[in-house]
Amino acid sequence: MILKACLFDLDGVLVDTARFHYLAWHSLANSLGFKFTESDNERLKGVSRMDSLEILLEIGNIKLSEKDKLKYAQEKNQLYLQYIRKMTREDVLPGVREFLSTLRHSGILLGLGSVSRNALEILNRTDITAFFDAIVDGTMITHAKPDPEVFLTGARLLNTDPESCLVFEDAVAGVRAAHHAGMKCVGIGSPEILAEADLIVPGFQGLSWKSVISNLNE
Ligand code: G6P
Ligand code: MG
Repeated sequence: MILKACLFDLDGVLVDTARFHYLAWHSLANSLGFKFTESDNERLKGVSRMDSLEILLEIGNIKLSEKDKLKYAQEKNQLYLQYIRKMTREDVLPGVREFLSTLRHSGILLGLGSVSRNALEILNRTDITAFFDAIVDGTMITHAKPDPEVFLTGARLLNTDPESCLVFEDAVAGVRAAHHAGMKCVGIGSPEILAEADLIVPGFQGLSWKSVISNLNE
């Protein structure tokens, strides 16, 4: 592939907020009287806040009115915000800043593709906003991953064909969204979970984008 742009998921890829989402959902499940495990949490990655709540309620076998659903989604977000309001530039995952910076210096366009409505706050708190030529977040899209909308919007804002974009994702729904958009995808995390990705790496530390491209082209 001829690489022109990279699109990055945020939670669990650039910062470890996937953990905070889990802790907040876990505590909500607790208060509703059921257990929510880390393996249940995999189903929520890349999924919008309201859709995540639906999955959580299905796991707990709980039925709620639409009004209560909004109330609990808000409650979860308040818990989540308590974690992210403590974030600083130290919370960017190892190797991320170096990787983004090398790509920029090589003339590759950078985009953010997250369905989180809190994305801008996290980018600003961790001081990585300036790396991105385009930012797509949950306030700009109608369909969460695995729908390709978030990545297709990113490609459009970067004026780049989907085939020239490469996505970095930690969620199964995100890998599927990239593929639905006609983009290749590097999975960040474990091969057991991200088997559908075109290449899987544990993280960005020591990762060279040239070796990523040559692996993908093999
Ligand atoms: C990301 C995360 C999901 C989260 C979603 C919405 O995709 O992977 O776990 O539910 O964003 O996040 P928000 O911050 O808007 O609640
Ligand atoms: Mg993620």
